[in-house]
Amino acid sequence: MNTVLVTGANRGIGLEYCRQLQARGDRVIAVCRTASPDLQALAAAGLRIEAGIDLSHAAAPGDLAGRLAGTTLHTLILNAGVLENNRLESLEPQSLRRQFEVNALAPLLLTQGLLPHLQAGSKLVLMTSRMGSIDDNTSGGSFGYRMSKVALNMAGRSLAIDLKPRSIAVAILHPGLVRTRMINFNPQGITPEEAVRGLLARIDGLTLETSGTFWHANGEVLPW
Ligand SMILES: NC(=O)c1ccc[n+]([C@@H]2O[C@H](COP(=O)([O-])OP(=O)(O)OC[C@H]3O[C@@H](n4cnc5c(N)ncnc54)[C@H](OP(=O)(O)O)[C@@H]3O)[C@@H](O)[C@H]2O)c1
Repeated sequence: MNTVLVTGANRGIGLEYCRQLQARGDRVIAVCRTASPDLQALAAAGLRIEAGIDLSHAAAPGDLAGRLAGTTLHTLILNAGVLENNRLESLEPQSLRRQFEVNALAPLLLTQGLLPHLQAGSKLVLMTSRMGSIDDNTSGGSFGYRMSKVALNMAGRSLAIDLKPRSIAVAILHPGLVRTRMINFNPQGITPEEAVRGLLARIDGLTLETSGTFWHANGEVLPW
């Protein structure tokens, strides 16, 4: 049985990852700040919740690693993220820093902290965004979010190279436009169910040969 850890598990795409992974028989460790009733309902069916982990806190990787003593992770899905509206006219350094901490620094530092829990054949999944594609940026703005996801993409490429000798593959995944609180449940988005079906297909198909690729959940390879 595979053990999969998911961050940002209490709602949105992270919660749906937990649902689909648990439904197919994986052992799921759901990491969050506060467990939602939806997540608690999954715990009643065997999912393990690790709550009280704020990824903007420097202590988070060590705290989580300590709680995982003796646990091997077959897949590590670093999904938690934050999107704040940063327009050029009203930039707030605190907001820019917060997005960098949660979207870029936390996934890298969590990977470092949880590395002893990964083994040859484990997979690392970074949930990025097409908004972190420089080539694809035709609408501007969203400075903190875009810049932090570009940084995450670069971390993902370096991790793919650095982790290859350990036989750990890395996926850098964009879920599509997904109807979650992050985008105010925009009705133009696809459902989390549909997005996660595609994301899991990418993760299942990930190999060391394809490690470090920037994919859309629908299988399209995205430009940097
Ligand atoms: N939805 C989309 O259209 C879309 C598109 C492209 C990429 N993505 C990416 O997909 C991922 C999931 O997004 P989503 O749509 O599911 O967003 P969401 O519904 O807003 O959920 C965000 C998750 O991240 C967690 N989180 C935020 N800050 C945190 C922190 N400091 N410490 C711990 N957890 C924190 C939230 O926990 P709390 O409830 O505690 O805040 C929540 O569980 C993100 O990385 C996002 O950038 C989403």
